[in-house]
Amino acid sequence: LPALNHILAERIAAAEKRGVKRVLPNTGLETGGAMLREGRRLLNFSGNDYLGLRTDARVVEAAQTALAEYGAGSGAARLVSGNHPLHAPLEEALAAYKQTEAALVFGSGYLANIGVISAVAEEGDLILADKLAHACMLDGARLSGAALRRFAHNDMAHLEQLLQQHRGAHRHCLIVTESVFSMDGDRAPLSEIRALADAYDAWVLVDDAHGIGFGAGDASADIWVGTLSKALGSYGGYVAGSRVLVDFLVSHARSFIFSTALPPASVAAAHRALQLMLAEPKRAARVLTHARAVAEALSLPFAASAILPIVLGTPEAALEASRRLQEGGFYVAAIRPPTVPPGTARLRVTFSAQHSESDIAGLIVALQALSIAP
Ligand SMILES: Cc1ncc(COP(=O)(O)O)c(C=O)c1O
Repeated sequence: LPALNHILAERIAAAEKRGVKRVLPNTGLETGGAMLREGRRLLNFSGNDYLGLRTDARVVEAAQTALAEYGAGSGAARLVSGNHPLHAPLEEALAAYKQTEAALVFGSGYLANIGVISAVAEEGDLILADKLAHACMLDGARLSGAALRRFAHNDMAHLEQLLQQHRGAHRHCLIVTESVFSMDGDRAPLSEIRALADAYDAWVLVDDAHGIGFGAGDASADIWVGTLSKALGSYGGYVAGSRVLVDFLVSHARSFIFSTALPPASVAAAHRALQLMLAEPKRAARVLTHARAVAEALSLPFAASAILPIVLGTPEAALEASRRLQEGGFYVAAIRPPTVPPGTARLRVTFSAQHSESDIAGLIVALQALSIAP
């Protein structure tokens, strides 16, 4: 073990030199879009609880009721202990929201992506992934044994070129992308991707992790993946698609088969949050108003989602900007490689329906004081 520790310590030091060593700061999450760090209350502009449902009293109550009725854990994988009574209603609601025949809940969005991609694609197939597709989609592609190629971000000409060059040499082809990109906040041109997929006999998988609540399902994907952990404020992931797809996953997706089912409280909270998200569309509208106000004040491109990137280049520049904002009472995380491509370290500003107008005005002043606007 000393030898292992020595080698790992060297690798940590190398990461630190490159400005990409990660640490886990102690943080207390609060309600109202705020957090506690180092004894200070900061406005949180880095969470994914876009709609403010994580702490909504009705969501918390749903979780508490499930906890009291069914206990803390689910006890086993679903194929072992059977279907929990809370799972099917959530899956039906997710399928209705995505306008698909069926849905299947996984332990997390990460597990959903690696499970579905590695089950559907096989050796001899081709996976074409957007350059900015989330790490779990790439991990799923690698597990599948299919050939993986990346197309330049949202670049339809490049996607078509790859299809022309490589589609013919593979049995099946799966195109994978995100509805709203996690670190850039922009959207994929889904109808153009659908048209290319149809022209080249390919399937489309869209990860809607950051899009839920900001636009529902449509026919652009054969497979939708998502998470219960961001706008729905709970925990878990899901796949939505045809009934056959879900039947197939139950006996082929290894991250579903060999992993314990979601805890009842998480399932109940996600289901209640989904109902509230649909009943209260003003929440998402408010988030977009916030994001657009900040984008406009800083002369940044129009915000298409709850995520507004401010690209600064080096990890040091992003860390310094984040530190200065924190001094002013705002938490905006610095996002560095490998989460984003080298040279594009950034502030990733995210908005919540819980932020007030004066929170937004204060953030604008603090960002302008950094003199980093383009
Ligand atoms: C695009 C995308 N897909 C999937 C995930 C994973 O979801 P989960 O956190 O539920 O594992 C994330 C973030 O965590 C994400 O940003």
